Amino acid sequence: MQNLVASSLKYENGTLSVLNQYLLPHQQVWHECNSVEAMKELIISLKIRGAPLIGLGASLLVAHLAEQGATKAALTDAINELEATRPTAVNLMHCMAALREALKQSDFVIAIVATAERLFIEDIELCERMATFGAELINSGDNILTHCNTGALATAGIGTALGVIYKAQQQHGNVHVWVDETRPLLQGGRLTAFELERWKIPYTLICDNMAASLMAAGKVDKIVVGADRIAANGDFANKVGTYNLAVLAHFHNIPFYVVAPVTTLDTHTICGNDIEIEQRNSAEVRGVSGSFGEALWAPTNANVYNPAFDVTPAKLVTGWVLDSGIYDKSDVESGALAALK
Ligand code: MRU
Repeated sequence: MQNLVASSLKYENGTLSVLNQYLLPHQQVWHECNSVEAMKELIISLKIRGAPLIGLGASLLVAHLAEQGATKAALTDAINELEATRPTAVNLMHCMAALREALKQSDFVIAIVATAERLFIEDIELCERMATFGAELINSGDNILTHCNTGALATAGIGTALGVIYKAQQQHGNVHVWVDETRPLLQGGRLTAFELERWKIPYTLICDNMAASLMAAGKVDKIVVGADRIAANGDFANKVGTYNLAVLAHFHNIPFYVVAPVTTLDTHTICGNDIEIEQRNSAEVRGVSGSFGEALWAPTNANVYNPAFDVTPAKLVTGWVLDSGIYDKSDVESGALAALK
């Protein structure tokens, strides 16, 4: 397989490595990954995360195993096991479906490697196209609120929602970002803050529960977020807390955009109620862990509700920024998303 390098995933000279996002920003540790078990652990523990990136990481591993001589049966099992690691982000299923098709070819090793390379390179291009469309929506001087991490760390390219912000800053400058810290796993505080700092884009970190008063004070001009799955009717799942922002945006009359590539569209899912939402470990809510160690503040056995994602209904979305253009409610109601696949 050719060398493929992204911010947090790389295949170089026959070695697949993943940057441990759980330890960022204070430690930059790369893990070599040679087995399905190792990749499953990396995905489930969110060391590799972000809807597009988990699909790409799993694909590169399958291609690597194919090159190492894995049988068709072993590759089928690998694809099935990797696909089951996280249920909400559909990009992973999209990638695994493409690999299953490749596995049907007589020279399946060549086909699988070509498919994994294509998916990786395509993701870079999809990010670029979303950013170009989305940057048109941003004005110089805008204060933009975002949630979770949707940048280069979460994709092979410059990101989805954060890629739009990056492009807007490059094109007209003078952008300021409000970064939701994004409890429970703090992807905003740990990863988005890290990326904005690296890109030298001015930002201010807030706790998630500060967004309402910021909006009431007129300090948020736009909200841009990513998605893990967009249903045919435009409802979408994204990191838990996104729906809160959409409701607040509606109340305060603030434009609310979702940015995602075509690989995040799931036209087989009719509406948001049909999206499976991953429930995660209670420990993530009872305390926090990372490069600094672990802290537990709740009673050890506190009852916990911990959905990783929530669903934002299409009626709260101002625009869907995809790699093929920007779609509004009337486009979506007339079936524009469903027609894209
Ligand atoms: O649980 P995570 O960190 O993988 O969740 C990520 C998100 O919710 C992102 O907003 C989404 O995957 C889009 S990333 C380009």
